[in-house]
Amino acid sequence: MNKIPLREQSIVLIGFMGVGKTTIGQVVAQKLYRDFIDIDEEIERRFQMPPKEIFAQYGEATFRRYEKEIISEICHKRLKVISLGGGAFLQKEVRDICLATTTIFFLDLSWDSWKDRISLLMDSRPVLQGKNMEEIKQLFDDRQPIYGQHHSRVLTDNQQVEEVADYIVDSLKLAWELYAD
Ligand code: S3P
Repeated sequence: MNKIPLREQSIVLIGFMGVGKTTIGQVVAQKLYRDFIDIDEEIERRFQMPPKEIFAQYGEATFRRYEKEIISEICHKRLKVISLGGGAFLQKEVRDICLATTTIFFLDLSWDSWKDRISLLMDSRPVLQGKNMEEIKQLFDDRQPIYGQHHSRVLTDNQQVEEVADYIVDSLKLAWELYAD
């Protein structure tokens, strides 16, 4: 398959759940005049069930299989902004395909900033349920290395959505200028 030119590659946002991938992705998409796709929403639309229900009724393995299939299909599309679920990069095939076909930004938020958001996430995120603070911190730490495979990292502590989105758009424009195919 032909390599997608840098400017036309879709932009993929990765990072731990609740760091703002969807909110920031929507703003980046607006600024670049691109369509935005949230993979969890896409799974929900196709499966007719929110991720939490899929986990409860069919188990995590089924959710991950769906997640992988949908990402593999969507990341070949050009000119999209795509937000991935926080666990998607656990799958090597997902990492490999995104690295080969898209431009990946890791939204990096420190534990100290993230932990203040827990109460907003606890209900809707199945992987947090039944875990105490120590176990959630462990999950947070265990996940960090998988986000290490990206094209660019964005520090989001104390940053507004608009600032992070502008940073992403500016660095993309610079990369397109410097490394245009
Ligand atoms: C998950 C993160 C969620 C969603 C699912 C599993 C995870 O997405 O895909 O609940 O394993 O980290 P967000 O990162 O958008 O919360």
